[in-house]
Amino acid sequence: MQKVTCTAPVNIAVIKYWGKRNEELILPINSSLSVTLHQDQLKTTTTIAASRDFTEDRIWLNGKEDNINHPRLQSCLREIRRLARKRRSSGGEDGVSRILSDKVHICSVNNFPTAAGLASSAAGYACLVYTLAKLYGVEGELSEIARQGSGSACRSMYGGFVQWLMGEREDGKDSLAQQVEAETHWPELRILILVASAEKKHVGSTAGMQTSVETSPLLKFRAESLVPGRMVEMIDAIRKKDFEAFGQLTMKDSNQFHATCLDTFPPIFYLNQVSQRIISLVHRYNAHYGKTKVAYSFDAGPNAVIFTLEPTVSEFVEVVKHCFPSESNGDTFIKGLTVSPSPLSSELTSAISGDIFPGGVNYVIVTQPGPGPAESQDPALDLLGPDGLPKSTA
Ligand code: DP6
Repeated sequence: MQKVTCTAPVNIAVIKYWGKRNEELILPINSSLSVTLHQDQLKTTTTIAASRDFTEDRIWLNGKEDNINHPRLQSCLREIRRLARKRRSSGGEDGVSRILSDKVHICSVNNFPTAAGLASSAAGYACLVYTLAKLYGVEGELSEIARQGSGSACRSMYGGFVQWLMGEREDGKDSLAQQVEAETHWPELRILILVASAEKKHVGSTAGMQTSVETSPLLKFRAESLVPGRMVEMIDAIRKKDFEAFGQLTMKDSNQFHATCLDTFPPIFYLNQVSQRIISLVHRYNAHYGKTKVAYSFDAGPNAVIFTLEPTVSEFVEVVKHCFPSESNGDTFIKGLTVSPSPLSSELTSAISGDIFPGGVNYVIVTQPGPGPAESQDPALDLLGPDGLPKSTA
C-alpha cells in the first residue's frame, strides 16, 4: 500500500467570484482575488492510499463514507490520473505505473466544525488534488484541476495573496490561480472570523450563482465593467500594504456581491441580522477613528470575516464581546491566535453602543495569512490505518 497525507488551507475572497461561463469546467465570468488563511487555525487534512487489495475507489469525509461518484470528485481523479499517465508515457517513475491501476481510499477531515458554516469545499478540493498529485508523482500546474472540484479551490493551491485569472480559452487551460504575494508579505495583517448564529441553511453557492447569472443584470455589469479595474486596484493595495485602500475595496466588493444576490430573481439573502449589525459596527468603529481600521467581507452565509492589522486586534475583539455578549465570553469565545485583553475607552464605548445583541456571535477565530498545501511528514496525522480504512472506525 502506498499512502500520502497532505493539508490545505481555506481562502477568503476580497474580490469575489460569483458566476460561471462554463458549468462543467468551472470557468468564471470574472477574475477574483483571495487571502489564504493560516492552517494552524483552519485546514483540511487528507490521506490517500493506493493498494492492489482495494476493490473500489472509496471516500470518507469527516468520519462518514461519502459518494465517490460525485461528478466533481470524478473530474479531479480523472484529470490527475490522466497527467500521471502522460508523465509515465514520457518516461516517468515505475512506482507510479504500478499504482495507476490500483484503486484508492481517500479520507479527509477539517480541523474546524462543519457546523460553523465555514466554506470547506475550497480547502477540501485543494487538498484532494494536492494529495492525489503527490501520490501519483504529478508536478506542475494543479490549480486548473482543483478549479474543476470547486472554483474557489484553485485559489487554495497557493499561500498568501492569490488571484484566479478568469482566462479566455474555452478549454479553461488559462483559467488558473497565481500567487500575487507570499504569506510573509504583510506580517501585520490579521483575519477574524465571527461565527454568526444562524437558524437555517442558506442557498449553496453553486446553485445561487447559477440563478444570478441567469437573472441579474447587475452581476453582468459587475463582471464585465467593474471587476477588471478592481483587480488592478486590489493588487496595488496589497503590494503597497495600504490597509485603507485594501479595506475599503474589500468591503465594497463584498457589498456588491450581496447586492447582486438581491438583484437575483428570486432574490438570495445571505446576510442576516447579525451580519448587518457587524457591518454597521465596523463603520461606526472606523468613523470613530476617522480611518479604515477594520474591514468586513461575507461569503454565501452570515459569518463575518474581519480584516485588520495586529495593533487593532485586541481592541476590536473587546468591541465584539461588548456588542455580542455571550455566556462563553471567557475562554472558548476566542479561538486561534492569542489576544491580550484591552479595556475600552468610554468614548469608544459610547461611539459603538446602542446595539447590544446577546448571543449573536457564537465565537471568533483569530488567524493570519498562511502558506499553501503541504505534504505531512508526521505519521500521527495519517488518517488511514494499515488496513486502508479510516483509523477512528478501523
Ligand atoms: C461567495 O467556489 O463554492 O465564496 O465553483 O460552484 O464550487 P463552485 O462555487 P464556490 O463559490 C465561492 C463563492 C464565494 C466567493 C469566492 O470565494 O470567491
